Amino acid sequence: MNIDRCVCTKRPFAELLEEAQNEGLSLIQLAQNTGASTCCTMCGPYLRRCYRTGQTAFTQLLYEDDEPYTSPQDQAPAPHKL
Ligand code: FES
Repeated sequence: MNIDRCVCTKRPFAELLEEAQNEGLSLIQLAQNTGASTCCTMCGPYLRRCYRTGQTAFTQLLYEDDEPYTSPQDQAPAPHKL
């Protein structure tokens, strides 16, 4: 199993992360601008982990409790490229 994208928007996490970094988007702004994690919401924990750690592909299931939505980091611009 390889989970590497938001299925609803057809956008890979790597591409979403790059957009956040290039445009200085917070996590919330990234979700609002792209729609990722806002349709079915299944990719939310993956998108949040991607944003917070730079990991763009996952082989394990993540749930809401694994990567909660609200944190002070969600409000800040995306970190610079790793
Ligand atoms: S898979 Fe990302 S919102 Fe549905």
